[in-house]
Amino acid sequence: MTRLLEIAGLRAGYRDAVVIDDLALAMDAGESLALLGRNGVGKSTLLATLMGLTTMSRGSIRLQGSEIAALASHRRNAAGLGYVPQEREIFASLSVEQNLRVALRPGPWNVAQVYDLFPRLEERRANFGNQLSGGEQQMLAMGRALVGNPRLLLLDEPLEGLSPIMMDVLLDAIKALKDSGLALVLVEQHAHMALEVTDRVVVLDRGRIVHQGTSAAFLADEAHMGRLLGLAQEDSIATD
Ligand SMILES: Nc1ncnc2c1ncn2[C@@H]1O[C@H](COP(=O)(O)OP(=O)(O)O)[C@@H](O)[C@H]1O
Ligand SMILES: [Mg+2]
Repeated sequence: MTRLLEIAGLRAGYRDAVVIDDLALAMDAGESLALLGRNGVGKSTLLATLMGLTTMSRGSIRLQGSEIAALASHRRNAAGLGYVPQEREIFASLSVEQNLRVALRPGPWNVAQVYDLFPRLEERRANFGNQLSGGEQQMLAMGRALVGNPRLLLLDEPLEGLSPIMMDVLLDAIKALKDSGLALVLVEQHAHMALEVTDRVVVLDRGRIVHQGTSAAFLADEAHMGRLLGLAQEDSIATD
């Protein structure tokens, strides 16, 4: 069977600096994956590499059987990758609705459906990108990726810097996307939240995969989570 995504022997980084090495990973249609790990281990670099935004010096990236490693970023979008970077790229000088319209590609997702998912965005449809709160910007960044009608959605720390209420809104939306059958990769520092809305988990450490399994099993093993993600250690350092 053709996998949705198949990464093999991947080496990537920035110019001469190798961040990710010898990485292999596969995903099937409809799968949701939490990509976890301490700060600086290469999570964002991996997503950026899938989009063609880093220096990739070795390996292959196949999307539905086709090699995409040589394609420019916009061609990877067209091939089915949707990407919401950590910086939440939206156009500050366009309205919410214009931001969505310029990202439209044929497929089931359209502007009206993004408004169904995020009613707040419809209320703000005439506001400009630079007039939105952090949570609204994240909704718009996700909405822009969705109207591109991706087969695989890559989300880089969508909950970062949001209030607890906004986190819940975004998390509910991610859960709804997963339940609709959209495949997604969710990078998060909020490990528990990410594990609650995903099927599988991959943990990175210094550019390599150090754990793979089901999200439920990892969530149930607090000690393992603490060791791999440094949660307990960081807590004890903070309280010393
Ligand atoms: N644009 C860049 N240029 C050079 N080095 C970078 C760049 N972005 C990240 N790095 C380095 O790559 C490593 C992995 O970073 P990153 O992928 O952002 O980690 P994470 O997302 O897991 O926190 C870090 O050592 C970081 O300093
Ligand atoms: Mg990052």
